[in-house]
Amino acid sequence: GVAAKIAPSMLSSDFANLASEAQRMLDCGADWLHMDIMDGYNLKYCPLHKPHFVPNLTIGAPVIESLRKHTKAYLDCHLMVTNPLDYVEPLGKAGASGFTFHVEVSRDNWGELVQRIKSKGMRPGVSLKPGTPIEEVYPLLAILMLRNRDMGIVVIYKVYIVQNLQVEGEYPVEMVLVMTVEPGFGGQKFIPETMDKVRALRKKYPSLDIEVDGGLGPSTIDMAASAGANCIVAGSSVFGAPDSAQVISLMRKSVEE
Ligand code: DX5
Ligand code: ZN
Repeated sequence: GVAAKIAPSMLSSDFANLASEAQRMLDCGADWLHMDIMDGYNLKYCPLHKPHFVPNLTIGAPVIESLRKHTKAYLDCHLMVTNPLDYVEPLGKAGASGFTFHVEVSRDNWGELVQRIKSKGMRPGVSLKPGTPIEEVYPLLAILMLRNRDMGIVVIYKVYIVQNLQVEGEYPVEMVLVMTVEPGFGGQKFIPETMDKVRALRKKYPSLDIEVDGGLGPSTIDMAASAGANCIVAGSSVFGAPDSAQVISLMRKSVEE
């Protein structure tokens, strides 16, 4: 199978002690640190107009930059924002490792977004909310980007050998994050129906990194692992446990079985 990556969600940590909380998680066996970046709207004051992605406000590039000074760990950034493109440059500079955007808000600029994420040295990922069908991310995993020397970028669905076309690309996105709760807050209940998407994706892409996020812990990990998820985000179950290392190792075992 694909290697397990256990990624504690720092949203459940004590933000006032972020560096030591991060180190504690690494000491407990974490592979990645999951960083939830949200752009917050206020339901009370603007119930209709939703220029932002989620009703919560967390951290941004300045915090990533500060944390980066204290750790070499892989910072797995999950962008719950309406305009992910605006965050590429600042997060790249700040030292983010992974940049996972939401498919629901970036349909019209995938190409540019993925290209810029890569050009800043970050690993691109795409996420979907529980209600979004898995088919929506397939194009991001399969399209090759070809660059025509005269005409710029041409996106095609099959690989043809065409004179004057230079293969630029790569499969644009390297990880799919299947949300297992509605994005916005930690501590919510795992939605088992989302596992159909993980299964479909794993069947199609045997070696893809498939991440799950929301409500994961000792009681739900087996469902996610058997569906084919290998990157496991967990906030409240890890930080809320008396023995975080034990929870991390239990989840790793379930994935690696
Ligand atoms: C929710 C975030 C999650 C959250 C998970 O929008 O994307 O990363 O922190 O927290 P738990 O594991 O408590 O559900
Ligand atoms: Zn997240």
